[in-house]
Amino acid sequence: MKRYWFGLAGLAGLAVGMRYALRQRPLDVRGRVVIVSGASSGIGRATAHAFAARGARVVLAARRADRLAAVQAELAVYGVPTLVVPADLGRESDLAALVEQTLAAFGRIDVLVCNAGLDLGGLHGEVDPARLRALVEVNFTATARLVQLVVPVLRAQGRGQIVIVGSGEAVSPVPGQAAYATSKAALAGFAAALRRELDDDGLRVSLVLPSLTRTPMIAAADEAVLRRLGIGIDEPETPAAAIVDAVRFGRRDVILGGPGLIAATWLERFAPGLMDLYWRWMLTPELIDALSRFGQEPDAS
Ligand SMILES: NC(=O)c1ccc[n+]([C@@H]2O[C@H](COP(=O)([O-])OP(=O)(O)OC[C@H]3O[C@@H](n4cnc5c(N)ncnc54)[C@H](OP(=O)(O)O)[C@@H]3O)[C@@H](O)[C@H]2O)c1
Repeated sequence: MKRYWFGLAGLAGLAVGMRYALRQRPLDVRGRVVIVSGASSGIGRATAHAFAARGARVVLAARRADRLAAVQAELAVYGVPTLVVPADLGRESDLAALVEQTLAAFGRIDVLVCNAGLDLGGLHGEVDPARLRALVEVNFTATARLVQLVVPVLRAQGRGQIVIVGSGEAVSPVPGQAAYATSKAALAGFAAALRRELDDDGLRVSLVLPSLTRTPMIAAADEAVLRRLGIGIDEPETPAAAIVDAVRFGRRDVILGGPGLIAATWLERFAPGLMDLYWRWMLTPELIDALSRFGQEPDAS
């Protein structure tokens, strides 16, 4: 009887070990068709580079056609097929065109990276209502709608991955960023629910939460003041590499920003009062000013 239990435990251990080993084997993205939204700039541009460098076929989507063409020219060095689809993701017809043009060019979609996004800095009472609506439209609604259009394609193929680019602010919200943080928290909830819905179809959903990253989005803010938040400022290549790895290793949630952000995430969950105290202590007018500049043109006052 004892031997029976030992045998059973051994088999269970072997099954768990094999599952772990198989999960760890990285996916080869060579030849995969990857749509990157918001590829004209910052993290999206770096992500397009990172996928193309590994041999993926990359579809570049954003509004500014000239910037997309410039990124496409940069990617020529990798010798992989690329496609530019100028698209305002707030427009239903552009979302549909993005999917249609990708299928017309490559016949499939393997990975969708939902990266396009806007920031809206400022104390909430002062933010422009039109920009508030645009923020929710682009950051949440357009992402959710694009996923709706792409999932049937992935289902028909029997495989595919979706990466949702959130923000550390989804788990540790920052004053002067209320609506932005909320739009990213909405994406975090969306990614978790979607993952559970698609699990049976063999489709994977990853949530990548970048920390502060040196891109045009935060260029108008004073970096020296931001550094006092206690977290570093990443180069766009850092979240880009995390996005590619999320696909290669089928990662679920990836929080960037190092131990500072991980500690903040835990404190938000188990001792939110301490985080309130932290912000009471940190929130100088100078910092509020810096955070309020996110999403503005660098020369805007
Ligand atoms: N930088 C940070 O510190 C940071 C931190 C955490 C998370 N993130 C997230 O990372 C993502 C990328 O941001 P980033 O820092 O790389 O900023 P970015 O350089 O400003 O890039 C934003 C991208 O989104 C695109 N976009 C905006 N509105 C769009 C629309 N209506 N339709 C299509 N594309 C649109 C922009 O392209 P067009 O203007 O050409 O349309 C651009 O390519 C965002 O989701 C952001 O929230 C950034």
